[in-house]
Amino acid sequence: MTKVLMVCLGNICRSPLAEGILRSKVNSSLVLVDSAGTAGYHIGHPPDLRSIEVAKKHHLDISEQRCRKFSPTDFDKFDVIYAMDGANYDDILAHASKDSDKEKVMLLLDEASLSNNEVPDPYYGELDGFETIFQMISVACESIAHKLEANGR
Ligand code: 4NP
Repeated sequence: MTKVLMVCLGNICRSPLAEGILRSKVNSSLVLVDSAGTAGYHIGHPPDLRSIEVAKKHHLDISEQRCRKFSPTDFDKFDVIYAMDGANYDDILAHASKDSDKEKVMLLLDEASLSNNEVPDPYYGELDGFETIFQMISVACESIAHKLEANGR
């Protein structure tokens, strides 16, 4: 089983979408996908309604997800940890205690051939920002899914 963790700040906008999108593209008996936030503002809450709505428009149901905070124990539980932006990346790395932990952390959009390398935080913006990030995250997840499949996962 390959275990993939998607991380953003709040775990209510970007990483729940990343979790739902990647999950829809992989074999669930071979790949486990989870998400978490570097901040604990919304622990136990469902995703932001705008993320739920955009996911639904693309036939994905992410409404059952619940927010949790990233934990240093996630380094032991996951094979790859994708950060949505540079601040998330730095926050995760600050919890890494060994090189093998650090090697697990990547920027999600480094998996996509896009001009930007960060998924912008859509929280304070409008609904169209959620559609924009859905598309960015989808490109990266498509690439991740192909790589996993090529490796027999
Ligand atoms: P996310 O967006 O990191 O994509 O989940 C945010 C959600 C909540 C907050 C910030 C960003 N907040 O400040 O509560």
